Amino acid sequence: MTHPTDRAPDPRDPLHFRSCLSTFATGVTIVATRAPDGTPVGLTVNSFNSLSLDPPLVLWSLRSVARHLDAFLRASHFSVSVLAAGQLELARRFARSSSEPFAEVILHDGLGGAPLVDGAIAWFECETVTRQEFGDHLLFVGQVRRCARVPGMPLVFHQGDFGQAAALDGAV
Ligand SMILES: Cc1cc2nc3c(=O)[nH]c(=O)nc-3n(C[C@H](O)[C@H](O)[C@H](O)COP(=O)(O)O)c2cc1C
Repeated sequence: MTHPTDRAPDPRDPLHFRSCLSTFATGVTIVATRAPDGTPVGLTVNSFNSLSLDPPLVLWSLRSVARHLDAFLRASHFSVSVLAAGQLELARRFARSSSEPFAEVILHDGLGGAPLVDGAIAWFECETVTRQEFGDHLLFVGQVRRCARVPGMPLVFHQGDFGQAAALDGAV
């Protein structure tokens, strides 16, 4: 019996690797911080994940050539806003190399000034505890100092497209 991985392309083929990764449905977040001059900076991120419960740690990764790399390296804190299903336009805007994605977005200042996006369904205020380069990304690990959630459905990213979560009949 052959298995699909027996004859699969090499994972160093980026199209193949990304295609396989894209089956892993994720939520969508905006990770943000403040540059040393006070400017809010942030981007759409789906590499966000939980890492530890005790202490409460989360992780995400940033492309090494990202425009905002320097701001995230210099900041003591970052914030994670988990987007609601209705925030598709925001997710798109923060995924573009636009100069002002924060225009018209209502923000609250979290710890260290890291901006929290209004209308999200959860927020994590994190202190960066470590960052390390792996391949073409930088891994950030943050200790969660405060977090909160409100009712709402998440925006979902799956196979390169945005969508919504749907419950399976009888699954629970
Ligand atoms: C759904 C989604 C998830 C993304 N996740 C990440 C991520 O985890 N890390 C990252 O560096 N870029 C991620 N990006 C890409 C960034 O949002 C995008 O490169 C950035 O906003 C553009 O900034 P730039 O000017 O540095 O290219 C994601 C994009 C989308 C649409």
